[in-house]
Order: sequence, then structure tokens, then C-alpha cells
Amino acid sequence: MADRPFTILGICGSLRAGSYNRAALRAAQQLAPEGTRVDIFDLHGIPPYNQDDENDPPPRVRELKAAVRAADALLFASPEYNYSVPGVLKNAIDWGSRPGGDNCWNGKPGAVMGVSGGAIGTARMQYHLRQVFVNVGIQAVIRPEVMIGPAAARFDAAGNLTDEKTREFVQKLVVALVEWARRLERGRAL
Ligand code: FNR
Repeated sequence: MADRPFTILGICGSLRAGSYNRAALRAAQQLAPEGTRVDIFDLHGIPPYNQDDENDPPPRVRELKAAVRAADALLFASPEYNYSVPGVLKNAIDWGSRPGGDNCWNGKPGAVMGVSGGAIGTARMQYHLRQVFVNVGIQAVIRPEVMIGPAAARFDAAGNLTDEKTREFVQKLVVALVEWARRLERGRAL
């Protein structure tokens, strides 16, 4: 592991051009510890899931599954839509989990953070997402829980995460994810 960067795949649950959640992933890129790289996978171009196509999935789904498999760990940043996980993100997770026996998520270390316009900062979405993790086999970091809101008070107009306390939380989450992934890796080697 030491001769190459530890790679985290960031997945954003919002397609919005000015997404605060993508901005939070950009902050994670800046705050990642030495030897760690955060790449962002864009969920644009992933069509609605159709089980008829799961054995021959669309190209963007193949790219998603390959990127997930190549990564050492996953970092999800997502808004809360109507108290839950945005359809765009759930849809991508559904594609990645199929067909049976070819679930790209299984066993991957993962962490969650989220930014919302309101003060609760995606808490309800995060617990729903953690429930989905159980079924697809993503091994989630338990703490810190990073729930960022209200967005407008934490980011500047250019989408930079400017709130110092929030930057610390994001950094702690990335560090916890790397440590958790290394612990799981050591456990597998035993
Ligand atoms: C929202 N928003 C929202 N916020 C929240 O705290 N709880 C919620 O349940 C919802 N529901 C919701 C549904 C839909 C369809 C939209 C478009 C928005 C507001 C949301 O937090 C805000 O738009 C964020 O800025 C979205 O994240 P991005 O796109 O900036 O990453």
C-alpha cells in the first residue's frame, strides 16, 4: 500500500452544477492526509436502473463499478431529498449491486457526509443510506458523523468550505476512513 497513494472514490448524490455536496468532496480532496488521494466520480449519465439490462449494463455503469473496485475506500457526500437518499444516488447503488454475485460495493470501506440547506444537515438521509450499506455490504465508518448545515453559512459563494470547524470534521472523517480501511485490510490478511 505504501508505494502508491491510498485512493478514495468520492461519490456525490447531487447532479447540481453548484452542488454544496460536491464542494464538500472538493474540500475533502484538499484536506486528505499525505499519501491519500480523493477522486470524484460523477453520476451524470447513469440511466434509471432496469433489471432487464443488468447483465449488460450501460457504459457509465461499467465505469462506476470499475472505479469502485479500483478504489481503496468510498466517501459519499449527499444532500437529503424529502428526508431520504436522493434517487440519483440510490439508483447508482442499485446498479452497482447487481447482477447477483457481481456487487461492486461488497466489503468496501465507506464513509458518509452531507450538506443541506437546513440546520439538520442530512441526518435523516444518512441513516437511510447507512441502512442501504448494510444490504450492499459497505463497511461504514461509524464516527465522526459529518452533517453540514446550513450550507450558506459554511461555504462561500465560490463553493469553498470556509467554516473552520466544519473543515476539521471533514478532515477527521477522511482520516477515520483511511484508518478504518487499513484495519479492515489487516483483518483480511490475518
Ligand atoms: C431538498 N432539500 C432538503 N433539505 C433538507 O434538509 N431536507 C430535505 O428533506 C430536503 N429535501 C429536498 C428535496 C429536493 C427535491 C431538493 C431539490 C432539495 C434542500 C437541499 O438541502 C438543498 O437544495 C441542498 O443544497 C442540496 O444539495 P446540493 O445540490 O447543494 O449538493
